[in-house]
Amino acid sequence: MALTARVLIEPMNLADVAAVHEIERLSFTTPWPAYAFEQELKGNRLAHYLVARAGDAVVGFAGVWMMVDEAHVTTFGVHPRWRRQSIGRQLLLRLGELALSIGARRMTLEVRESNAGAQAMYRGFGFEAAGRRRAYYTDDGEDALVMTTPDLADPTMRSIMEAERGRWAT
Ligand SMILES: CC(C)(COP(=O)(O)OP(=O)(O)OC[C@H]1O[C@@H](n2cnc3c(N)ncnc32)[C@H](O)[C@@H]1OP(=O)(O)O)[C@@H](O)C(=O)NCCC(=O)NCCS
Repeated sequence: MALTARVLIEPMNLADVAAVHEIERLSFTTPWPAYAFEQELKGNRLAHYLVARAGDAVVGFAGVWMMVDEAHVTTFGVHPRWRRQSIGRQLLLRLGELALSIGARRMTLEVRESNAGAQAMYRGFGFEAAGRRRAYYTDDGEDALVMTTPDLADPTMRSIMEAERGRWAT
């Protein structure tokens, strides 16, 4: 059975940006600069970001932009030392709940074609491949898979979220 780290998932605030940026830097070949997160938190009314905390440490983060009726996942990362401990799954559940609470019908995202781990995590939450964006990643020209959930209000999604909630409740 997979390891589970107990984390608290909360809205990201400006004091979290340095730690979030460090995880971003360790996770992506073209990381967002720290000021991009600051601008998102200060000035983008469509943006919603969460962090996972283990004690005082920020160990993961994720965010969406609310685009009409879709919650589009903009970024998602867990610190390399904290991976494979179900933190991504816990963040994804809370992101799904957040998406529902702001009126999203579904969630969408782009993920590198080679990123099998992230794709497996998203599939476990009901995402399915819905298309491809050719040469989406400008650093190396890799394609992105577009993934989307069914309607968040559908029984399938409700039961996935219910099962995930049960898993992390104590
Ligand atoms: C993708 C990422 C967020 C997963 O976070 P995590 O906390 O390690 O994920 P979890 O432990 O919650 O794993 C959830 C599921 O994802 C899948 N998964 C995660 N990492 C995996 C890997 N390296 N290989 C295969 N499957 C993987 C598994 O199905 C896993 O479920 P299981 O543990 O019950 O088998 C993390 O690896 C990461 O930050 N990667 C770099 C950034 C990134 O790729 N972000 C996504 C961009 S779209």
